[in-house]
Amino acid sequence: MSKPAIVIAIDGPAAAGKGTLARRLAAHLGYAYLDTGAIYRAVALKLLKQSIDADDTPAILAAARSLDPDELNSDELRTDRVGEMASQIAAIPALREALVEFQRTFAANPPGGAPGAVLDGRDIGTVICPKADRKLFVTASAEERAHRRYLELTGKGEQVSEDEVLADLKKRDERDQNRATAALRAAGDAYLLDTTNLGIDEAFAAALDYIAAR
Ligand code: DC
Repeated sequence: MSKPAIVIAIDGPAAAGKGTLARRLAAHLGYAYLDTGAIYRAVALKLLKQSIDADDTPAILAAARSLDPDELNSDELRTDRVGEMASQIAAIPALREALVEFQRTFAANPPGGAPGAVLDGRDIGTVICPKADRKLFVTASAEERAHRRYLELTGKGEQVSEDEVLADLKKRDERDQNRATAALRAAGDAYLLDTTNLGIDEAFAAALDYIAAR
């Protein structure tokens, strides 16, 4: 039998730098990468396109079941409107349940025969892969995260103010942290990485030290 895949779980609030870090770690280690937020966003995008409400659970579950992995790479997923809808539907326990198996299968059998997988999201270290080999909880102050998200959005031509972005981010943090199911929180055994004053290279080096040290 081949060795079990190494699993690295990366959780944290919106715009903390998890995605950039996770992608870079996966490339460095030769592991597969899954952005689990993209799954919630892809379902959200389908709902927005089909004018389905955020409380129509049967239609939301149908949209989740018809999801094609190719839909996870669309640029359309990255808007704030889609992120807001994703955060709303992510509070529906039946939707979370419907998405568990896909995420666990990815972690246990990384595509392309990779020896490991990096998954980022909100509940990877707590719910999806509680036995992950390494767990990181990546944070930054709300102001710093809003600043980064503002630069990202305006860089893509979206017309937003930094105050609006900060207000949206706080609303999303509040919802993600206080929902009844799989709320955003650090696993007890996670390494806490605060990137408020760290550039991406420093954050990457700190994450790699933690991964190598254990
Ligand atoms: O990481 P992101 O901003 O792309 O995630 C969008 C929303 O999806 C986020 O506000 C909460 C939800 N989400 C979740 O509940 N659980 C995950 N594992 C990933 C994302």
